[in-house]
Amino acid sequence: MSWIDLEELDQPLLQKVLKLVHMYTGITMGIGKKTLIQGRLRPRIRKLGLSSYGQYIEYLNSHKDEVQEFVNLVTTNETSFFRTQRVWDFFTKEFLPLWIATNPDKTLKIWSGAASSGEEIYTIGICCEEYRQKNPGFNYQIMGTDISSEVLAIAEVGEYSGRSIEAFKANNRQLFDKYMESTEGVFRVRSDIRSKIRFGIHNLFQIPVDPKKYDIIFLRNVLIYFEPKDQEKVLSNISKGLVPDGVLIIGESESLSSLCTPFKYKLPLVYEKAEECLG
Ligand SMILES: C[S@@+](CC[C@H](N)C(=O)[O-])C[C@H]1O[C@@H](n2cnc3c(N)ncnc32)[C@H](O)[C@@H]1O
Repeated sequence: MSWIDLEELDQPLLQKVLKLVHMYTGITMGIGKKTLIQGRLRPRIRKLGLSSYGQYIEYLNSHKDEVQEFVNLVTTNETSFFRTQRVWDFFTKEFLPLWIATNPDKTLKIWSGAASSGEEIYTIGICCEEYRQKNPGFNYQIMGTDISSEVLAIAEVGEYSGRSIEAFKANNRQLFDKYMESTEGVFRVRSDIRSKIRFGIHNLFQIPVDPKKYDIIFLRNVLIYFEPKDQEKVLSNISKGLVPDGVLIIGESESLSSLCTPFKYKLPLVYEKAEECLG
């Protein structure tokens, strides 16, 4: 195959691409992201045998199937097991004991709304399983969604190696040995945990399909990609998925303090559903 030398992405075309990113994902990127966009799209354009960014935009506009490929390319999916330890301390030491005390005989329903390749979901699963061993009546179900089909495919298989596994092993050795099964250097979370988890594609700009279902929603490290008015839209949608006293967990560099949202502050990174928009 001949090597096609792509021209630089010029300003008008860059603006078109950034508009498409926003249209399909809600993510706002400035023109400073030009190198990132070029680096992500270039291999795809070459693979399709196209010779310019302009041609790719036309291709994207005329091929519905390409939209998912485009979304997979422009999203940033960085994640890790036990990311931000204080979230897991809150979840296991405060949230779970209180929830079980006030909801005996119920099944805890958890949603991770930007699940990426699954490390967060499996961390939730491991925490729940640890809790269930000391409280045998406890039961839970976890839903993991993301807009990227590529990362969800990894999450569904649940096999990890390299960097993501090394940090987990170094920081939580006991849980790692207990819950990760290994075959030839590839690690997979135990099947009893995997059996409690479901995955699906969901765009946070859409209303959740299961209204008032979830007791707790993890929405971590995704709001940062949206501008304030879009963050408000997403948070309004997310609140519809929560039970009346449901809890929302956000990411370390995120805050709801200057937004008008149906959530009230509880603790750093932790919010509770409110009846109306507070801001
Ligand atoms: C940086 S990762 C965060 C993963 C995980 N929550 C964590 O904190 O480690 C952000 C994820 O948000 C997803 N995402 C971006 N825009 C989205 C949207 N509009 N709807 C659903 N997911 C989205 C991306 O595909 C990506 O996997």
